[in-house]
Amino acid sequence: MNPNWKIDTIAVQGGYEPKSGEPRILPIIQSTTFKYDSAEHVTKLFDLEEPGFFYTRLASPTSDAFERKIAQMEGGVGAMATSSGQAATTLAILNICSSGQHVVAASTLYGGTYNLFAVTLPKMGIEVTFVDPEASAAEIKKAFRPTTRCLFAETIGNPVLNVLDFAKFAAIANEMQAPLIIDNTFGTPFLCRPFEHGAHIVIHSATKYIDGHATSVGGVIVDGGTFDWGCGRFPEMIEPDESYHGIEYVKTFGPMAYIIKARVQLMRDIGATPAPLNAFLFNLGLETLHLRMQRHSANALAVATFLENHPLVSWTRYPGLASHPTHDRALKYLPKGCSGVLTFGIKGGAEAGRKFMEATRLIALVVHVGDARSCVLHPASTTHRQLSPEQQKSSGVTPDLIRLSVGIEDAGDIIADIDQALSASQK
Ligand SMILES: Cc1ncc(COP(=O)(O)O)c(C=O)c1O
Repeated sequence: MNPNWKIDTIAVQGGYEPKSGEPRILPIIQSTTFKYDSAEHVTKLFDLEEPGFFYTRLASPTSDAFERKIAQMEGGVGAMATSSGQAATTLAILNICSSGQHVVAASTLYGGTYNLFAVTLPKMGIEVTFVDPEASAAEIKKAFRPTTRCLFAETIGNPVLNVLDFAKFAAIANEMQAPLIIDNTFGTPFLCRPFEHGAHIVIHSATKYIDGHATSVGGVIVDGGTFDWGCGRFPEMIEPDESYHGIEYVKTFGPMAYIIKARVQLMRDIGATPAPLNAFLFNLGLETLHLRMQRHSANALAVATFLENHPLVSWTRYPGLASHPTHDRALKYLPKGCSGVLTFGIKGGAEAGRKFMEATRLIALVVHVGDARSCVLHPASTTHRQLSPEQQKSSGVTPDLIRLSVGIEDAGDIIADIDQALSASQK
């Protein structure tokens, strides 16, 4: 790759560079395994002495190209694709966290992540302390323990849509010698590159804007290569890994230690691998990410402005609106746009919300965001349903909250559909 390429060019051409006579388009290598002529070659692959593929659970050519492209777009040193966004979050944590250890996380998280942190990780002996991301640095630091292994937050919280104070979170992470892991699903590398703001690891639900067309579930972990694993707090990165015949990750792989460990240890053992076809579709999605995110953002701002002035809407939340509490941060960290998701409160509460969702025609009621097609959801009764009322409150979900994922259709058509559905909601 030409190191001077801008992100739009990387989106289209990064990751896969065919040699003369090879397919122009990234091939789908639908093969579990790879043939070799010599046993010695296979041994070298197993010993990680040579790059190459030997079993698709660990790595495969189509995923590899997608991983290269997203790593280039994020400005990281390497990436590992996973079978879902949830798998990406789980593996990102488990790579540096084991029983008896601890995570600090912003409370404004996607409901599935909140559940993973509040219920499933504790069952594995990993405790998570949730912090209000707007709390002072001193308050957030109080949540840290000697066993704390990372600080976790979303670029744009789902569904509160708070833009993270990266400067504050990065300073805390550095001071506490714990990597900052950022879920950049809503941000996307086109709108926000968390490594430039101090993050150390980025994860994505590729299911959302990366795919962009609602075809495939997947995820990815990207390593910024900037965390100092040799700081004395992460012996698993320094000491020989007996499960991989004594490999020492930092010594052998330098800045790629974290992402290589994730693959050769965790992907080997847990196997949350994406299908080659899905990796192909994520790569295809990335080819238009820069165009789609501009349109998602412009349409969402137009819809948010319309809603903010509508008599049947009690409140509208979109970081691109001057009225949003984190608008200044949006200008700083999301200068190209604030993505396609917004929330609003409908007059008449949950019942009006139900009628609204059933009245939309162009906008579909689906459990999803980040699709080219506009869609709508009521988080309290769906994505955040398993959370207690207190947990819902701390993750910012209220009964009247409606979440819109604004697509890339004509903004006027989307607004017309919302307008008629708002009228229908009051009947
Ligand atoms: C911000 C965010 N992170 C992670 C996930 C989980 O991703 P997946 O559904 O691909 O497992 C989601 C899913 O909605 C999400 O919105």
